Amino acid sequence: STLRNIVQKMPKAELHIHIEGSLEPELIFALAERNLVALNYASVDELRRAYAFTDLQSFLDIYYAGASVLLTEQDFFDMTWAYLQRAKADHVLHTEIFFDPQTHTTRGVAFSTVIDGIHRALREARARWGMSGALIMCFLRHLSEEDAFATLEQALPYRDKFIGVGLDSSERGNPPEKFARVFARCKELGLHLVAHAGEEGPPAYIETALDVLQVERIDHGVRCLEDAALTRRLARDKIPLTVCPLSNLKLRVIDKLSDHNLLQLLDAGLVATINSDDPAYFGGYMNDNFVQTFEALPLQRKHAQQLARNSFFASFLDASTKQKYL
Ligand code: HPA
Ligand code: ZN
Repeated sequence: STLRNIVQKMPKAELHIHIEGSLEPELIFALAERNLVALNYASVDELRRAYAFTDLQSFLDIYYAGASVLLTEQDFFDMTWAYLQRAKADHVLHTEIFFDPQTHTTRGVAFSTVIDGIHRALREARARWGMSGALIMCFLRHLSEEDAFATLEQALPYRDKFIGVGLDSSERGNPPEKFARVFARCKELGLHLVAHAGEEGPPAYIETALDVLQVERIDHGVRCLEDAALTRRLARDKIPLTVCPLSNLKLRVIDKLSDHNLLQLLDAGLVATINSDDPAYFGGYMNDNFVQTFEALPLQRKHAQQLARNSFFASFLDASTKQKYL
């Protein structure tokens, strides 16, 4: 069968998806109506037309505005359920989902409302389809470390509902080391650690994410190739990169998909994976990312197999479950 068919049908894990970034314009409008929240856009089409991003910050402004319609536990369930159905259709067997509690708690939504709604959808997917999922709580790096500590404190009663922490939002000017102490505390708590680094920010942020935060994976990380020693280190230590090609295109990290460095990353021996990041905003879920990237780059069947394998290798599944997929 064709390579396109192979990449679509192969079992895969998704490791870089912000659940708030899966909120489709149609659901934003439905929730705005249900919750009597006013929107600055007259229609779904008008909102979609605003999705013309020039960089990370221009996206984040609209992404946080979109999330303002999320108020109840059912809202968080509905958003997550819609994503899980799309992921299932793309043959995603396992997903590790980011959520941004501070985006909601700063609007007066309780932490429990957020995590209970998202987690209920994960339980439902496991019960109905045998699909596995886990949550990674992200700290917003444009806010203070003190704010991150307060969020961790709120999260501790729900420690059994998430497996790790990450770092997202505006990268430039907010280096990993800003969160050194809160990540050290999370490590003591036995949480998995990841961070966005080297998306817009320099390779030095990838290094401090590893050395200061002690993360196990780098989210994005595509700028690592600017530093040959760092690239060798990532390969040697098998530090996975959760790459998001359509995100890089839409946020103008690259001008065209054929300029993406995914093949160079794989050729350098890195554990690179393909992920959707914010699929409702960047024009595609997992298989859209796979198909468009395979169309744009000279990737072959062996690369498809490597990417699928990398996605499970890089996951936080327990060793025996992981082994079954490798
Ligand atoms: N980068 C940083 N913060 C984010 C992203 C991203 O790609 N998506 C959602 N929050
Ligand atoms: Zn991201």
